[in-house]
Amino acid sequence: MKILITGGAGYIGSHTIIEILENTNWEVISIDNYSSSSEKTYQRIEKITGKKVTYYNIDLTDLSLTEKVFAENTDIAGIIHFAAFKSVPESVENPLMYYHNNLNSLINILKCQAKYNIPNLIFSSSCSVYGNLTELPVTETTPLNKPESPYAYTKQIGEKMVDDFIKTNANLKAISLRYFNPVGAHKSGLNGEVPIARPNNLVPYITQTAIGKLEQLTVFGGDYATNDGTCIRDYVHVCDIASAHVKALQKLVDDKNFEQHSIINLGTGVGVSVLEAIKAFEKVSNQKLNYKIGPRRAGDVEAIYANNTKAKELINWTPKFNIDEMMLSAWLWEQNLNKM
Ligand code: UD1
Repeated sequence: MKILITGGAGYIGSHTIIEILENTNWEVISIDNYSSSSEKTYQRIEKITGKKVTYYNIDLTDLSLTEKVFAENTDIAGIIHFAAFKSVPESVENPLMYYHNNLNSLINILKCQAKYNIPNLIFSSSCSVYGNLTELPVTETTPLNKPESPYAYTKQIGEKMVDDFIKTNANLKAISLRYFNPVGAHKSGLNGEVPIARPNNLVPYITQTAIGKLEQLTVFGGDYATNDGTCIRDYVHVCDIASAHVKALQKLVDDKNFEQHSIINLGTGVGVSVLEAIKAFEKVSNQKLNYKIGPRRAGDVEAIYANNTKAKELINWTPKFNIDEMMLSAWLWEQNLNKM
């Protein structure tokens, strides 16, 4: 079957394409506008899998250009919609950019899904939809709190939009996957995250500091009410995230009675503090990291980790990798990236 991936040149999109090409006989077409990635990703995918991906350079906020892809490919069986801006601090600084891009592209994908009668959609959501919580771990029924950033709000609205829209058409189904903190890289060391500018996320910041591209990591806040004062997150290997997409889509294809729209957490269920993440990196890379404790970052939540029982029950997904393996793969990738 033919699958459309939006944001296929991006971090999670590219790992998902690799997972698909390595483990299924699905054909992949990808749309990306390289706003935070590059066309070179497809060469890396080809090198790892030995397979080619058909790809389009299109901005999904342009409906007529987006529609052309659907008109050219009338046999798409499912869409995995990754394409979105994803930086919490950037969204705090430039909210309209986030509302415009993340919401309009989703609206256009939903319009095309209905118009071209594509039965299945997987939507990339985020644990940021939960906001600040007092009860952990979070389950999918935990009520959503106030979003802490415009990015988080685009994901709350996105899920609601998918839910409202899917229910207007009995032929359509969707799963929204709430990612916790995807990190790490493909085991080959040949694909991983490529931060275009200065990275915002913790793990690329750590690896870039270790390799000398950045001078020092600042830990954002050492006075949170957690075991060591730093924020707690649920880091999950990007290849585990990728395999969940394959399982989720296969479930929608196979199970005609599956709920029209389900929401599923993708996390390991293990909360790791920033300092623990740094320690894991230091252990696997066998070096000390240059870091200091600095002020809190706007938009950050204090602590969040998943209850992932629903993913196990509904799509038979259990994450395989622990924090050491995540850090080691990210470090291998950073060293390879340095040679490219
Ligand atoms: C947030 C979202 C997540 C989303 C991701 C996309 C929440 C709870 N999570 O992740 O769902 O997928 O954005 O980008 O909103 N940190 C430092 N120093 C740094 C960088 C980060 O201390 O230089 C800390 C942060 O304060 C945070 C942790 O590391 O506690 C992880 O940060 P980051 O990797 O940016 O991800 P989130 O903001 O948690």
